[in-house]
Amino acid sequence: MNISIIGSGYVGLVSGTCFADLGNNVICADNNKEKISSLKDGIVTMYEPGLEELIKKNTKRGTLKFTTSTKEAVEKSEIIFICVNTPPKNNGQADLIYVEKVCEDIAKYMNGYKLIVEKSTVPVNTAQRVNDVINSFRKKGAEFDIASNPEFLREGSAINDLMHPDRVVVGVNSKKAEKLLKDLYEPLKTKILVTNISGAELIKHASNSFLAMKISFINAVANICERVGADIEEVAAGIGSDKRIGPAFLSAGIGYGGSCFPKDVQAFTYIAEELGYDFGLLKEVEKINEQQKEIVVKKCEELLWNLLDKKIGILGLAFKPDTDDIRCAPALHIIKRLQEAGCKIKAYDPKAMDNVSKTTKGITFCKDAYAVAKDVDCLLVLTEWNDFKELDLTKIKNIMRQPILIDGRNMYDPKKMKKLGFKYACIGRKI
Ligand code: UDX
Ligand code: UDX
Repeated sequence: MNISIIGSGYVGLVSGTCFADLGNNVICADNNKEKISSLKDGIVTMYEPGLEELIKKNTKRGTLKFTTSTKEAVEKSEIIFICVNTPPKNNGQADLIYVEKVCEDIAKYMNGYKLIVEKSTVPVNTAQRVNDVINSFRKKGAEFDIASNPEFLREGSAINDLMHPDRVVVGVNSKKAEKLLKDLYEPLKTKILVTNISGAELIKHASNSFLAMKISFINAVANICERVGADIEEVAAGIGSDKRIGPAFLSAGIGYGGSCFPKDVQAFTYIAEELGYDFGLLKEVEKINEQQKEIVVKKCEELLWNLLDKKIGILGLAFKPDTDDIRCAPALHIIKRLQEAGCKIKAYDPKAMDNVSKTTKGITFCKDAYAVAKDVDCLLVLTEWNDFKELDLTKIKNIMRQPILIDGRNMYDPKKMKKLGFKYACIGRKI
């Protein structure tokens, strides 16, 4: 099939590359010239395991191409995926200006039937707007369908999530659109759930909001655990063993971050309000998430007393492991709060330091975890990178100024940490 992707960011690039790997002819377009020029040279500017290799393989065999020209992408393809970003406005509403602009361009260049697919996360009823824009700007006789095909890929395991999904959701209002998308996903041999368009749009917001709710729920329970001496890992295992609940997304920590959950919870709350429904549950999910980041700062105060001039080492900056993405990373919020309180910050992250150095001032970046630990009063573990599991903790303890470690991701065994001589704090576990 001939496919184009408009917006080659995390979602667009991974989707386009996987479609190419399935044997389709794919053109990935983006208005960022530098990004496209790097991609043409086989250089991927973001970190996603396995992506660079897959891009090289498919570029070489001619199934994957890159362009800055929306015109070229639209003219040469039958299915067009809209994958531009949909960032939040200050009031939480999804900003759909890029989606609108891209639709206008698509309409102008349509040279025959096109299936235009929303892959970016958009609020319910966006398809109606997309339809109106295309109708207004298309040439007479250029037929089209709109569809919604949300993505559920997680950064760090995006290729696997796309190639082996639990389900593919296809929201359509024509048999032709349904057939095209079913044919595209047929090689994945997975369950394809067909709904109307607003159903598919809703599935995306509802799925992400539900997962965020699970995380806030378990974080709230972790706070109760701390007050009564129960262990959140045991409690989560007990809850998650019930098949109706399931064990996934019940890891207590420092709150969810990333480009999706914070934005989607807000956008879903906003659109619900617009539709006349007060989704108070989601407001609470967000509130708990904000408080959870503050808990780390409070633990610093409890263990360090005064924060002024204290040296704090941060292990992990990305919003989760196996990515360099720092969008809404809890670590950035915590660092800002500690800097405001007068702390001096050193940090290490295997992949995200470049991105943080572009946006946050006053951090001393280190070559590894040991360089961070040297002479600090307290270490904070804020992203659960595998590398941090393998650290020589005795060495770490010996080079710190004070052996205080706050484990925001429950990576270490509290008993072992105590035995090693750390003053150790974590989230919702018995110490
Ligand atoms: C995606 C989705 O689109 C978003 O709605 C979802 O909730 C999360 O994932 P993501 O792929 O992470 O966003 O965004 P980003 O990495 O910023 O990629 C968007 C790309 O679109 C960028 O490369 C940007 O240059 C490009 N773009 C943006 C265009 O090509 N044209 C535009 O008009 C705007
Ligand atoms: C998410 C969705 O999972 C995915 O389906 C897609 O819609 C895009 O958004 P992503 O943001 O890449 O994926 O990462 P995810 O693994 O979902 O983690 C999001 C955040 O939740 C991270 O900050 C992570 O640390 C946190 N998290 C996750 C927890 O705190 N506890 C958990 O149990 C799981």
